[in-house]
Amino acid sequence: MAMNLRGRHLLTLLDLERPEIRYLLDLAHTLKAERLSGQHQRRFEGRTLAMLFEKRSTRTRCAFETAFGEEGGHPVFLSTSDIQLGVKESIEDTARVLGRMFDGIMFRGFEQKTVEKLAKYAGIPVFNGLTDLYHPTQVLADLLTIEECVGDVRGLKLVYVGDGRNNMANSLMIGSALTGMNCTILAPESLQPAKDLLGTVKKIADQSDCEIVVTPERKKALPGADIVYTDVWVSMGEEKGIKEREALLEPYRVDKEMMAQTQNPECLFMHCLPAVKGNEVTFEVIEGPNSVVWDEAENRKHTIKSLMVASML
Ligand code: CP
Ligand code: NVA
Repeated sequence: MAMNLRGRHLLTLLDLERPEIRYLLDLAHTLKAERLSGQHQRRFEGRTLAMLFEKRSTRTRCAFETAFGEEGGHPVFLSTSDIQLGVKESIEDTARVLGRMFDGIMFRGFEQKTVEKLAKYAGIPVFNGLTDLYHPTQVLADLLTIEECVGDVRGLKLVYVGDGRNNMANSLMIGSALTGMNCTILAPESLQPAKDLLGTVKKIADQSDCEIVVTPERKKALPGADIVYTDVWVSMGEEKGIKEREALLEPYRVDKEMMAQTQNPECLFMHCLPAVKGNEVTFEVIEGPNSVVWDEAENRKHTIKSLMVASML
């Protein structure tokens, strides 16, 4: 289906309508096949992308940079130790300056409000490459990976285990609800999703005929899972109180026993990476036959390219 996403921001997956996320995934499948068959296009010839980083990154930076660069575009990496953002110059002013020079902005950092301000003032598409609250481009890659490995995600069951109120849990719930995949957040009471977001996501899930469930109980969450997904126990910027967090999440480590509790020998294991092996997941599971973490990492590039093609051209 043709769809016009030109000029659009992606600050959270809540910015997308259900047919729009479908469109981005279909386009990503096409762009990936094109890339793997060695076809080269120059879609971003003469265009520039500002890439702003307050936090570290391997996959997100490399995915944006290689996807844009291999199509002839010029990505510019700007860490907060290079530019004035938030130090000598406001976010609003930085946005207006970048908007006069670039064709798009990617932002990775702490506050969601920063990426929202950039979007409000830049006048060019702004992409959230991770904030404390959301990681939308990661979930596009995850959905592509599930479609490649299992097929149609509608009616599947994804169980996210661990810190149930971090950027990944939030974005996976939204992505699931938009695509009709059932999503269970298995997390201790103190690390469960915010009530208002949960309410919003449940409404979308109703329209997509799927369910969002939150529980601290393994026995309730795991049976019938098609995907077990986890993330680090301590996200970037939350390093204070690391020992308490590790103790709290110890019973939520994804190990062989947890995978067996799904009663599905084909159950995929997924992780956005980077992983702390031995904490949220055992070496055996992440390196085992059901793990698709490297496919997820590769798919960051194809889905990010899809997003940029759809909104920047
Ligand atoms: N998954 C992910 O966003 O990885 P990076 O932190 O390396 O970008
Ligand atoms: N929740 C993690 C995701 C890293 C890609 C973090 O924010 O550090």
